[in-house]
Amino acid sequence: MNKIRKAVFPVAGLGTRFLPATKASPKEMLPVVDKPLIQYAAEEAQSAGVDHFIFITGRSKRSIEDHFDKAYELEAELASAGKKDLLKIVQKILPATASCIYLRQAEARGLGHAVLCAKPVVGDEPFFVLLADDLIRGTGQSVVAQMAEVYARYGCSVLAVQEVPREDTKQYGIVKVETGPDGEMRVVSIVEKPAPAQAPSNLAVVGRYLLTPKVFEMLEETGEGAGGEIQLTDGIAALLEHEPVIAYPFQGKRYDCGSKLGYLEATVEYGLAHPELGERFSAYLRAFRD
Ligand code: UTP
Repeated sequence: MNKIRKAVFPVAGLGTRFLPATKASPKEMLPVVDKPLIQYAAEEAQSAGVDHFIFITGRSKRSIEDHFDKAYELEAELASAGKKDLLKIVQKILPATASCIYLRQAEARGLGHAVLCAKPVVGDEPFFVLLADDLIRGTGQSVVAQMAEVYARYGCSVLAVQEVPREDTKQYGIVKVETGPDGEMRVVSIVEKPAPAQAPSNLAVVGRYLLTPKVFEMLEETGEGAGGEIQLTDGIAALLEHEPVIAYPFQGKRYDCGSKLGYLEATVEYGLAHPELGERFSAYLRAFRD
């Protein structure tokens, strides 16, 4: 089975839930402790063998390109100051062999539209989509590496899913599933942001997708859906008429860093787990509580 070489990072959204921080800078550049969200996502894709990083960008997103670019002046300064550890950190953001491709989505017309913008670069092969504002710490291996294993077994699109409280279904794509012969979850239907009473389940799609290129054909025919946007969910619903799609309840913990509370939770937990800061931060939190 083919390796998944390409990952799409849609970063052209407006990030309204995080205003004013996102007025002039991308939410994907918000740091959790010392790394921006987009770097966590790129490292996750890299862990699954991706070497083509395709960013769907928009206005006010230039700092993402700069982040993955070489920084001559900074590197020269660090080298001459003998700060080898820091130099290594800035040089190792992505391996030298990685190709970074930036495509502009001129208008934020929805996630489905953003993914469709990647069609000329992805071509006719399966690919990942990672939404960097969903920060996911995989158990054992990264979530996309787990999904690649599911793909190797079934050869079809795979959606990362997790159970959410009923009252939250209106924030997600929600799937209805049936159990396949190996106990795998086969998607029967998918709907974008249903009200709790209409939701077919409480199984929500989160920001990791492994999609077959057939989805592009579907998205080309997908009109505007919920919120007047071209929804990836609607493209996947159309895909279901042609190909099987698997819902994969990943092993790991997800932080919704597109929301302020999720971002604070991630900051606390990654701070506590940080090799240099963890102990002191934990002592600080204990003292603060008392
Ligand atoms: P969100 O639904 O989180 O939207 O998009 P948003 O605009 O980023 O944030 P809020 O809700 O206004 O706070 C999910 C993902 O899809 C990307 C976003 O960048 C985010 O990673 N996206 C969304 C695009 O790239 N283009 C779009 O037109 C819409």
